[in-house]
Amino acid sequence: MSATAENQRLTVADIARMHGDGTPIPMLTAYDFPTARLLDEAGIPLILVGDSVGEVMLGYESTVRVSMEDMLHHTRAVVRGAGRSLVIGDMPFMSYATVDEALDSAGRFLREAGAQAVKVEGGVRTARVIEALVRAGIPVQGHIGWTPQAKYAMGGKVRVQGKTADRARSVIADALAVQEAGAFSMVLELIPAQLAAAITERLRIPTIGIGAGPGCSGQVQVVTDLLGLGSFIPRHARPYAHLRETILEAAQKFAADVTAGTFPGTEESSQMDQTVLDEVLGRSALDRSEGVLGTAGSAGIPLDRDL
Ligand code: KIV
Repeated sequence: MSATAENQRLTVADIARMHGDGTPIPMLTAYDFPTARLLDEAGIPLILVGDSVGEVMLGYESTVRVSMEDMLHHTRAVVRGAGRSLVIGDMPFMSYATVDEALDSAGRFLREAGAQAVKVEGGVRTARVIEALVRAGIPVQGHIGWTPQAKYAMGGKVRVQGKTADRARSVIADALAVQEAGAFSMVLELIPAQLAAAITERLRIPTIGIGAGPGCSGQVQVVTDLLGLGSFIPRHARPYAHLRETILEAAQKFAADVTAGTFPGTEESSQMDQTVLDEVLGRSALDRSEGVLGTAGSAGIPLDRDL
């Protein structure tokens, strides 16, 4: 994948090297420690702690509800799990409305949560923020096309961006603005495949597509879509596992076993020396022969001899 030593954390320079070598770049989202550990072990170079956490993990109706505290909490867990992958923290809605807010929020992702980069949505409209973050030494991933945080401004309905000549020109302008502002890569979300490929060919930095066809430098999926965990899988996603059914079946089998009294069995239980228990419960040979009339045990539990 790169010249970086096996266990050393990947950097944006490694990602640039992969891009330069023409190696496609896989990226996945993660929101918790065990998933991050598995993605890291699988050799996924980029892990995004997406603000999609709001919808897929926290039950919010949109990413707009996600707070900085939500993001920092989940980013910390992912960073603890991922020793080698480069972890990108997704800047939540209104955390980069001004350059000062952006510097403060991005700084918190790196300093408090241990992320190595941040992602911000928006092209031309966000270029000034990206520039300031990069100047401050913070690696930035851009995100153009369909940008979920601007959902209400974009008409509320999830829609492919750039199908008309005007919209395509505007998406290209966004891509150039993000690159010129100094981002190390950018997500292209819900863009026609031909437009995404044309943008990718014209940029120096890698594009990571989601619903943007095969012509991008890399691809990203929301991990719950990859694992088939949600009740709805978007058309652009491909589930590589079917965990929803697996979890449902496991929970139903567990409930059935508990109801039937077949869980736990002897193999899931531990045993103690019976004479020790007899002594504790006042059932020992001495208790029986002496017929001791004791009082309740020290924990207030009636002993057999008291019953
Ligand atoms: O929040 C997220 O998961 C994202 C990806 C869809 C790129 O932004």
